[in-house]
Amino acid sequence: MRICRTAAELRAVRSSLESPVALVPTMGALHAGHESLLKNARDGNATVVASIFVNPLQFGPNEDLAQYPLTPDDDMALLERLSCDVLFAPTVAEMYPAGSQTRVQPGEVAAHLEGERRPGHFAGVATVVLKLFSLVTPDRAYFGEKDAQQLAVVRRMVRDFDLPVDIVGCPTVRESDGLAISSRNRRLSDAQRRDAVGLSRALRLIVEALERGATDVGAVLRAASAELGALQQDYLAVVDPADFVPLDTVPRKADLLAVGAAFCGTTRLIDNMKLCSA
Ligand code: PAF
Repeated sequence: MRICRTAAELRAVRSSLESPVALVPTMGALHAGHESLLKNARDGNATVVASIFVNPLQFGPNEDLAQYPLTPDDDMALLERLSCDVLFAPTVAEMYPAGSQTRVQPGEVAAHLEGERRPGHFAGVATVVLKLFSLVTPDRAYFGEKDAQQLAVVRRMVRDFDLPVDIVGCPTVRESDGLAISSRNRRLSDAQRRDAVGLSRALRLIVEALERGATDVGAVLRAASAELGALQQDYLAVVDPADFVPLDTVPRKADLLAVGAAFCGTTRLIDNMKLCSA
């Protein structure tokens, strides 16, 4: 695996990479969810480029940038094992040198739910993803469906800016009890880990109730709140994955998402599940 720490190093290897080139953007602390992205990328492409960059732009002032887990040796071993061809791991100064000031401003798709609770987060994500696309010039880029609103923001940006990259969404990887795998799960104590499954239970309740034909979204969400158990609800909602506007009623024959966020102690968990209303 070739390791590039600067844009210049990356540019120097880019011209020799066989197409199609896949990009798997990450912030490191790689886990089974990333492993699935990397395997999907490996299966369908001649070259796999992974990036590891903990992007300060997407963390708010009260968020956990300083505590973000760093596991460089384990990450490198996983990338080698999965036959990743190139790792791009720049510094903050490399990505945002002094004087850097241009930012991508996502629209309505970033306005609700995560966007409302984490002001500036999706602008930070869109900005770094656009920079990675521009540096790596991938044919395809792989993102987890677990961060569903992030995926929607990236898809919208690609359409709005006519970017020549296919966005591939990969299914959420779950523990055997249903908890969506996330680097934040490592912060949970044993007791919190047992409680954490409440979020996926609540989402499953929403999906099952709506698929059975329930129409009162408010009542369904109230019932789902009770499934959260010891977790503290941030939000539960049903949205169209194209715009992420919370719905009061469920349109017929629509592919929708049940989405949720909840606190397990101080750790904020997010998750979503697909539903197909009849
Ligand atoms: O999902 C992530 O890990 C990050 O938001 C991403 C897409 C790598 C951008 O920093």
